Amino acid sequence: MAELTASPTVKSNGNTAYRPDALIAEDIEGYLAQHQDKSLLRFITCGSVDDGKSTLIGRLLYDSKMIFEDQLAALESDSKKVGTQGQDLDFALLVDGLAAEREQGITIDVAYRFFATEKRKFIVADTPGHEQYTRNMVTGASTADAAVILVDARKGVLVQTRRHSFIAKLLGIRNIVLAVNKMDLVDFDQAAFDAIVADYRTFASDIGLEDVTAIPISGFKGDNIAAAPSSETPWYSGPSLIEHLESVPIANREAQSRPFRMPVQWVNRPNLDFRGFAGLVSDGRVRPGDAVRVVPSGATSTIKSIETFDGSLDEAVAGQAVTLTLADEIDCSRGDVIAAAEAPVEAADQFEASLVWMSEDALKPGRGYWLKLGTRTVTATIQEPKYEINVNTLEHLAAKTLDLNAIGVAEVTTDRPIAFESYADSKTLGGFILIDKETNATVAAGMLNFSLRRAQNVHWQATDIARTDHAKLKNQQPRVLWFTGLSGSGKSTIANEVEKRLALMNRHTFLLDGDNVRHGLNKDLGFTEADRIENIRRVGEVAKLMTDAGLIVLTAFISPFRAERRMVRDMLPDGEFIEIFVDTPLEVAEERDVKGLYKKAREGTLKNFTGIDSPYEEPEAPEITVNTVAMTAAEAAEYILQQIMPLK
Ligand code: ADX
Repeated sequence: MAELTASPTVKSNGNTAYRPDALIAEDIEGYLAQHQDKSLLRFITCGSVDDGKSTLIGRLLYDSKMIFEDQLAALESDSKKVGTQGQDLDFALLVDGLAAEREQGITIDVAYRFFATEKRKFIVADTPGHEQYTRNMVTGASTADAAVILVDARKGVLVQTRRHSFIAKLLGIRNIVLAVNKMDLVDFDQAAFDAIVADYRTFASDIGLEDVTAIPISGFKGDNIAAAPSSETPWYSGPSLIEHLESVPIANREAQSRPFRMPVQWVNRPNLDFRGFAGLVSDGRVRPGDAVRVVPSGATSTIKSIETFDGSLDEAVAGQAVTLTLADEIDCSRGDVIAAAEAPVEAADQFEASLVWMSEDALKPGRGYWLKLGTRTVTATIQEPKYEINVNTLEHLAAKTLDLNAIGVAEVTTDRPIAFESYADSKTLGGFILIDKETNATVAAGMLNFSLRRAQNVHWQATDIARTDHAKLKNQQPRVLWFTGLSGSGKSTIANEVEKRLALMNRHTFLLDGDNVRHGLNKDLGFTEADRIENIRRVGEVAKLMTDAGLIVLTAFISPFRAERRMVRDMLPDGEFIEIFVDTPLEVAEERDVKGLYKKAREGTLKNFTGIDSPYEEPEAPEITVNTVAMTAAEAAEYILQQIMPLK
């Protein structure tokens, strides 16, 4: 889930005290270069504020000397100020400076910190623990190889411990460290530790987390954090936290033993003699001569060469960025996946997926979102969730939508087949994000569970008389004149006037009207957001079929949402969709109240009425706007005809 990155540094609010991130960010290149040959482990820490997470992270940074000297001096004097006694530094002060900032902002960043030991370098994602920050934890967890789940030895497994574990499992983190912290406050009592571990293991096996390592620690005192085993816990013979983190398998390494896959990032064609497919090998290894298959097209070839900036390679493995050339000229473009021929990935356009909703705007079932998976971006619609998961109890709840921070399971349909794997097999080819087409904001992270096969046997039937033939026979160019505006704005009346004039000019037309379509094709739909979205989707499909038949289609629907008007526009060839905004102010439409519906809506007997208690999103860039206050319907029709002429 490569796109799910948060900024590595937290924005400054002018308070520059204790800002290890800021410093580290500047030094990071040099720092990482210095530790270049060491493997990199990414992990996430989960716990609520009181579990001592800040102290632990401060301790990790301190023990690995990642605190710079001036900060250390500041920390020492500040620890004195707040009354921490003796030589114990208050490590929480290091990281909590950032917490206050996070509380204020609506966008909460994940703070990433870097440190290294003799054996390995680490990136730790620090996310706030509260339920309202679920999306942040998901962001941090999406790239993590391991999760350190902190539990206060005095409190044991809490509701949030379960939530964090569930999210870690959902995001495919297999290595869990149960760090039982504040052992100093329970006198390093083995019985207390054992009880918590037993409790946690029962729960962990219920949700399918198998690889759990429990470690008794004190972030404050430093016990069992760095290398030496603590003399306070003679009964514990396992590794210290750092030792353990140094031995956790890294996902990248594991991916290398899978069959070969590379999502194509771009096609490199500098001249006619060279065509290379550039991308990051996500799984397995590849050598010249290997048989490969391009998915979804299914075309096969063999690898001719593996090119990099520094020359050709004999082999490339997961994690490497390369350009592959193939022995044959086959169709392969950005978003396709080149895979081992004997073990290719699947392609499908319907899936079951788990979704984590990350936006304040709730999921709108039926609406088209951009879905970004690997290097592919397609349009996807999400059905009403099968269920939402109560992240605290793991119960399945009935749900019509997903709100901010909600996690649920739903069916996803893409507008074309995409190459994929289940998230459990591949984070790269099974993890995706959803993007709002209007705002470009990331609204959800998703994990594909499996494909639904029902669409697999339905193929588009190619016919001999094509849409151009239909249009030619009618001697016209098909168009959709899409009228949008409030109820009572005059859409139907003006569309009717336009159609009459077109008929006089021997144009072949058809008028689809909201009230009429709702008596037949769409009589099962009401006026909820979801129903309006479906209403417009169906009307869009019908209008498209009619343009395929060569007609000039006029539609008169409120069509209150930009996203669905855009969806219909995107369904049609460029230039065929003409959006006509019938611009009548609410007061005027209400004053006219041709059908008496505004009155009912004001009285509260008619719910979800557009303009009253349901929104109308005005077009931002309609091809044509008609102002019905200044013009009669006939004048508006004339004006529209002028704009669209010559309607060849
Ligand atoms: S749309 O929002 O889904 O595009 P559509 O144009 O099909 O609406 O239907 C709108 C017509 O349905 C209105 O002109 C009005 O006559 C009728 N209607 C009944 N209830 C409502 C409502 N709650 N909101 C808007 N229109 C309604």
